[in-house]
Amino acid sequence: MNLKPLIINGKEVKFPIIQGGMGIRISLNKLASACMNSGIVATISAAQPGFLNKNFRKDPIGENKKELKIEIKKSRLANKNGILGVNLMHAGSNYPDYARFLAKQDIDFIVSGAGLPLDLPEYLGGSNVKGAFIISSGRAARIMLKSWDRRYKYMPAFIVCEGPLAGGHLGFSKEQMASGDYESLEKIVMDTKEVVKVFEDKYKIHIPIIAGGGIHDGHDMADMLKVGADGVQIATRFIATHECDVDDSYKQMIINSEENDIVTVKSPAGLPGRAVKNFLTKTLDKHNLKLHYCVDCLISCKKKGIPYCITEQLGNSTSGDNNGLIFTGAKAYLIEKLDYVENIVNDIIRECRSDLKLSGGMV
Ligand SMILES: Cc1cc2nc3c(=O)[nH]c(=O)nc-3n(C[C@H](O)[C@H](O)[C@H](O)COP(=O)(O)O)c2cc1C
Repeated sequence: MNLKPLIINGKEVKFPIIQGGMGIRISLNKLASACMNSGIVATISAAQPGFLNKNFRKDPIGENKKELKIEIKKSRLANKNGILGVNLMHAGSNYPDYARFLAKQDIDFIVSGAGLPLDLPEYLGGSNVKGAFIISSGRAARIMLKSWDRRYKYMPAFIVCEGPLAGGHLGFSKEQMASGDYESLEKIVMDTKEVVKVFEDKYKIHIPIIAGGGIHDGHDMADMLKVGADGVQIATRFIATHECDVDDSYKQMIINSEENDIVTVKSPAGLPGRAVKNFLTKTLDKHNLKLHYCVDCLISCKKKGIPYCITEQLGNSTSGDNNGLIFTGAKAYLIEKLDYVENIVNDIIRECRSDLKLSGGMV
């Protein structure tokens, strides 16, 4: 018996793993190509890909779109038929404009989290690009599905359930993170599966449920498949790869991190984020950081009195400044070396298959 295939936009992927989108400039064409070539789904991040361009501060939207086109084109040159999507955060400014633009590109899906993308189907028009979303509770899944059903008669290509161990911005409050009073990823997956059933019956389709956040190895993956997930989303583990687009110093920060180096930080988005302890996180305990410019990246950012500028600090760190913001998932400390995407995927699948007692030769 084999692992159940994951089908998105009419295409089947060899292994039910989605590489999660990582901004700024962490998951671009090199990681995406390696992921597709290794038989998993790839996601390019739409979070400020134009960050390094000369004109970025003057025309962030134009430069980001220019880079997205280049990243998608290069990924498609490396793998024409793989499943490729773009992660577009709903909390970002100019969401409708970017979504309409992405709906015209050679990708399979747009996946949105960081807020509820209630309006995403509106921008897809007659495009072949499918919409998907990321939520952190069964309740949020219900709100999303009811809204897309009522307003657009549209169902997502898949749903990512993101738990408390994920990287980047977290879908839980500061208080929840501090007290540990949050639902486990297993519970979010099971609740979401329950919610989805009604809509699957109504539309006579299957909506894949993908579990993300703290999936480090095949044992973690098997645990999620056992509670009913159709696949997993993995991000942090793919940072420490030869192919990941981020600067080597960022990869090294992830590899060198110990368990007590992984901390939660406040973010200008108003949500907590998870990061590797460094100069920035220690400074934030004492005072806010000076802002040097603003490209109006987040709708919810108040601009005044914020702890730091997320574009500036994340963009700096991913381009090689270890004093910037080093976003990470909770299990980064388990990563010990730089590896190739294909090796990581094969290891994860082997462990998962062994835990699930599946036979047959997928890897
Ligand atoms: C460095 C980093 C950057 C991320 N950036 C984004 C992002 O721009 N948009 C988004 O929706 N999720 C983002 N995420 C979340 C991932 O896509 C993914 O869902 C999550 O991290 C999975 O957990 P894992 O990292 O433990 O595998 C980011 C995660 C990391 C580690």
